[in-house]
Amino acid sequence: MKQKTVYLCGDCGYESAKWYGKCPSCGAWNTMSEYKVQPEPATRGVTSFARGASRPALLQEIAVDDEARFYSGIGELDRVLGGGAVHGSFVLVGGEPGIGKSTLLLQMCQEMCKNAKVLYVSGEESLRQIKLRASRLKIASSNLFVLAETDMEQILSETEMLSPDILIVDSIQTVYKRDLTAAPGGTTQIKECAMSLMQYAKNKNVTIFIVGHVNKEGTLAGPKILEHMVDCVLYFEGEQAGPFRCLRAAKNRYGSTNEIGVFEMSDHGLLEVQNPSAAMLAGHPSGASGNCIVCVMEGSRPMLAEVQALAAKTQFGMPRRTAAGVDYNRMVLLLAILEKRCGLFLSSSDVYVNVVGGMRLDEPAVDLPMVLAIASSFRDKPLPEGVMSFGEIGLTGELRAVSNASQRIGEAYRLGFHTCVMPDQELSDKLPGKMNIVRVKTVGEAISAVL
Ligand code: TYD
Ligand code: MG
Repeated sequence: MKQKTVYLCGDCGYESAKWYGKCPSCGAWNTMSEYKVQPEPATRGVTSFARGASRPALLQEIAVDDEARFYSGIGELDRVLGGGAVHGSFVLVGGEPGIGKSTLLLQMCQEMCKNAKVLYVSGEESLRQIKLRASRLKIASSNLFVLAETDMEQILSETEMLSPDILIVDSIQTVYKRDLTAAPGGTTQIKECAMSLMQYAKNKNVTIFIVGHVNKEGTLAGPKILEHMVDCVLYFEGEQAGPFRCLRAAKNRYGSTNEIGVFEMSDHGLLEVQNPSAAMLAGHPSGASGNCIVCVMEGSRPMLAEVQALAAKTQFGMPRRTAAGVDYNRMVLLLAILEKRCGLFLSSSDVYVNVVGGMRLDEPAVDLPMVLAIASSFRDKPLPEGVMSFGEIGLTGELRAVSNASQRIGEAYRLGFHTCVMPDQELSDKLPGKMNIVRVKTVGEAISAVL
């Protein structure tokens, strides 16, 4: 039978019969690579009414045990997984090289191998290197097996022999199947290897974690190909230079995708950050202009963060704008609102916005604090001590309500803030008595209330 060849985009998984220099779907250059489709078995097209192994079943008659889970003992990780890793689930842990994926998974083994047999397969490190890392992380466990291997068949046959409850493959970009001509790390290899692992996970009810490196553009090689296959996608992100790392669920068939876990990288591996708000505010300068504290909701948790802005006179022609930790386009839009609605002439100023601690804040509630930080820097006037804020801004400069306002105020109060500048909205819960709530309807009102 003739083998069919298609071309797949390594970034978005777009499939076409023709090769393109630029992917028609995501617009990336030079990402299309050849993928040989395995010929279908010859039975196809022949009408066969033989009853196979899979048959329709009545939903109410399907017997399942309670959703059993493995716990890592790392509270932040278990929460992001939706309360531990479900037996037989397939989890992808993505992140930039060097962010700490291997460290996190090795630390996870520490607790998991108390109740389960765990096999950690590394295609990147030798057994000696793994041992040295484990000693540094003080992992001493009798039920943890390690294997340094990149050949997929070999990995599967060793796994079959050992029959572990949990299998970790670090990383999917280094493993390969011998019968494919494509190089490891390419779309074909990643797709085929992940497919074999998925079949193994489902047939044997083994929980599999795979590590996937993210390329510079922020997408895994073949992210769509992997993302639709797996049950959970966790991304590990943060500034490499900074101490904080944030674990986010981008997809979870067994829980919510809003939760995040916050970690700190130390000499002895990753430490959970129990009180992220306090950690993010450490070193918050008092009496300096150009910063504002925001309370964002990360899943079910309120978290405080510091937004900083610097507005400086433009030296040459075009003003520069950079945004770290907030959306660039959102920042540009807010600058336009400040100019048009509040008369702050920022078009001859360079504006830099940054979120302290390397956090990424994607919530609209960060609009108002960002605007206050920019206005504060522009006028070179600090916000009063103990002020925090949240609120979404509309195009006419009006403030819009955000969710969970009471919870946000509660968290700010707990960390010693006494004034909250927020949209004019109803509050559901009772507030701490001493909190001073400043309700504002427009950006202009907010600025004149505090600056
Ligand atoms: P690693 O887990 O190897 O990253 P990944 O698997 O995502 O590529 O983490 C590597 C980084 O973490 C490296 O820069 C060193 C740092 N690190 C520590 O700071 N402390 C430690 O105890 C360990 C194990 C790593
Ligand atoms: Mg690694």
